[in-house]
Amino acid sequence: MDKFIIRGGNRLSGSVPISGAKNATLELMPAAILAPGVYNISNTPDIRDVWTMSRLIGSMGAYAELNNNCLHLNTSNITSLEAPYEYVKRMRASIHVLGPLLARYGYAKVSLPGGCAWGPRPVDFHLKGMERLGAEITLEGGYIIARADRLKGAAVSFDIASVGATFNVMSAATLARGRTVITNAATEPEVTAAGRFLQKMGAQIEGLGTSTITIDGVDDLKPVDEETIPDRIETGTLLAAIAISGGSATLTNANPYHLAVVLERLEEVGCEIDIRCDEISLKAPEHLNPVNVTTAVYPGFPTDMQAQWIALMSCATGASTVTDIIYKDRFTHVPELARLGCDIVVKDNSATIRGGRSLTGATVMSTDLRASVAMVLAGLVAEGETEVLRIYHLDRGYESLEKKLSALGADIRRVKTEEL
Ligand code: EPZ
Repeated sequence: MDKFIIRGGNRLSGSVPISGAKNATLELMPAAILAPGVYNISNTPDIRDVWTMSRLIGSMGAYAELNNNCLHLNTSNITSLEAPYEYVKRMRASIHVLGPLLARYGYAKVSLPGGCAWGPRPVDFHLKGMERLGAEITLEGGYIIARADRLKGAAVSFDIASVGATFNVMSAATLARGRTVITNAATEPEVTAAGRFLQKMGAQIEGLGTSTITIDGVDDLKPVDEETIPDRIETGTLLAAIAISGGSATLTNANPYHLAVVLERLEEVGCEIDIRCDEISLKAPEHLNPVNVTTAVYPGFPTDMQAQWIALMSCATGASTVTDIIYKDRFTHVPELARLGCDIVVKDNSATIRGGRSLTGATVMSTDLRASVAMVLAGLVAEGETEVLRIYHLDRGYESLEKKLSALGADIRRVKTEEL
């Protein structure tokens, strides 16, 4: 079990590159099940969730190896059509194998994802979507059992524009007989990237990036190579780190268009932002303005930036509110941030942050991926030393975060602990 030890107070400067997107990679890898063969996916982030997905599809008979951020994948020899609990309990995105397995092999056995640190995260849209395409779905012993001779195109609509359910239905529909129309589909860049990948494999898909996606099923797809898009949440996180430290630095290999709303809010905070192609430079103001945010589906303010924003607003000159309408209970970071001296009150799905207090280093406990990085941000400004425990949560989605922050001048180091 590693932990971070951070000594606050350094203003960040210099430049670092952004890694490939975790949430795009976790769609590209399962999509490769649809066409047995060899794939090379460059700009793949070297993170725990990619290792877990590699082990999951490896347990099915496929081969996955990551070398210098290039993922070499071979799905020619899939013999098991099961996603065991041991993988799904580590990573909910394991459910992304459901659609591809069902479409390719007419059968899938996928463990139901259990609970999550911040409340219920049902998969009913995924199951309803598969049933709309003609699959027979049963739940046995904590597992989803899905069967279908050949899926049939259908109209599928979601109550909420779900990222995962859109991917599962879109990928399954690529090999269905006939046309599928998904309404209220997710428009997140990661879903669009997966759709582009499927198009390259030979899928007939229209409407990517809009809330209506049309898929005309084909008989076969072929393996292709791809480059993963930059990670917009890592980008937003590092920009918030530069801002909270009062620094001035540049991120390269980024895609500024994927986080327009975050850049807008950072400008309202008082940051100077300069965009040149795939480079984003941020210069922090002397005093951070308090700015309210409410999360929303893309292109709204991402819930995956909510915790980081609360940490940033803890250093603003005044009060602000952060409301999460996607995950109403996603506030497990608040009591830990309070240990560093943040003044945050949560009521229902809204946090009120009273900024302007100086923070003091303490030992804090990670509870999930984004919550843990919010503590790192607060640790960058807290007086003295902050210890962030159980950073395996953070390693799920950030590639060598401490190396990138050190390269920007932060005093942060990774330390092994005795904790089991
Ligand atoms: C994806 O999760 C991301 N994960 C999450 O990022 C992100 O927070 C989330 O989208 C929202 O942007 C990956 O891409 C691997 P949803 P996903 O289905 O697909 C409800 C991170 O930090 N819903 O879009 O699971 C659901 O409860 C992770 O990188 C149902 O009710 O999210 C939520 O309120 C955390 N039934 C809303 O829809 C369903 O069947 C959006 O969820 C599916 C979803």
